[in-house]
Amino acid sequence: MAIQWFPGHMHATRKAIKERMKQGIDVVIELLDARLPGSSANPLLASLTDGKPSLKLLNKQDLADPDRTQRWLDHYNALPGTRALPLDAGNKAPAKALVTACRELAPLRGGMSKPLRILICGIPNVGKSTLINTLVGKKSAKTGDEPGITKVEQKIVLAQDAYLFDTPGMLWPRIHIPESGYNLAASGAVGRNALDEEEVALELLDYLRVNYAPLLQARYKLEGAFETLKDDRLLEAIGRKRGAVLSGGRVNMQKAAEILMYDFRQGVLGRISLETPDEFQAWSAAAAVADAERERLLKEKKAQRKGRSSRDSWDADRHAEAADGDADVDDVDEDAEDA
Ligand code: G4P
Repeated sequence: MAIQWFPGHMHATRKAIKERMKQGIDVVIELLDARLPGSSANPLLASLTDGKPSLKLLNKQDLADPDRTQRWLDHYNALPGTRALPLDAGNKAPAKALVTACRELAPLRGGMSKPLRILICGIPNVGKSTLINTLVGKKSAKTGDEPGITKVEQKIVLAQDAYLFDTPGMLWPRIHIPESGYNLAASGAVGRNALDEEEVALELLDYLRVNYAPLLQARYKLEGAFETLKDDRLLEAIGRKRGAVLSGGRVNMQKAAEILMYDFRQGVLGRISLETPDEFQAWSAAAAVADAERERLLKEKKAQRKGRSSRDSWDADRHAEAADGDADVDDVDEDAEDA
């Protein structure tokens, strides 16, 4: 799916992270959406943060499938230099757990002479402002539904010898895993103007029908073998059940898409995760193959263009020579006439 947004935000964040890294960071906290940890992880972060120890916070765990969250936690906790914790806005005192995990990741830091310096990153709408508000105990960071609002870096004192530095949320310019594009869009990480809601809803439905059919059935009172319906028929059935009907009896598919996405985002459908570590790994591998093929085709096209342009220039040379030849003949003729 083509998602369009302004890469300006990305450049601002990249710059902010690089600047902060230069001044010294011991641990990087990456706030992830527990419903889509793989897709909400920034693929550029490890290189931007020089592979610093990393704490993955699986936020909004109250909305995610608990079994799958556990699988993701196990997956991250098995990686070197990485720890992972589940989190949600219901946790009113998260600082202690965060600082403890960060101290484990950077045991040589601590005390007033070597305070622990922590950087927090996360894509838009993952809940970073909400967490920071909880940490500072007042309304200091913005919260809102439209992602992509940048803000200046701020420093939060987590403990006497532990500081947290905030960065603006960012998405990257090209999401190369198609499933991630859809999952990010379904979660609300991508602004509404940058996506086709009906397309996103159909993809979401396709996943839910296979993995969470009982939740769909319970919410929309679907009848018969609804799982076997085509995605658009299923979305139509949902729209009809929820009264998204136009005059004349046709279902308003845009409205039906909005209803489904709202229900998913708010957790009305139930606790749902859109990916497992294995699924995400398989998507990444397929995307890498597709990327390599894309690269190959691009190179081939470039080579063809180059070949064409050197053939064209060869043709142009011959043409010029021929034109020259004609000129010579003309010259001879003119000379002859002169004579
Ligand atoms: P951001 O700074 O990363 O962009 O995200 P922000 O904190 O603004 O949070 C985005 C939305 O996610 C907000 O909802 C917020 O309430 C919600 N949220 C944050 N953390 C959690 C969590 O752990 N669980 C759940 N269920 N929701 C969370 P909103 O509808 O945009 O605003 P609001 O009216 O709820 O404040």
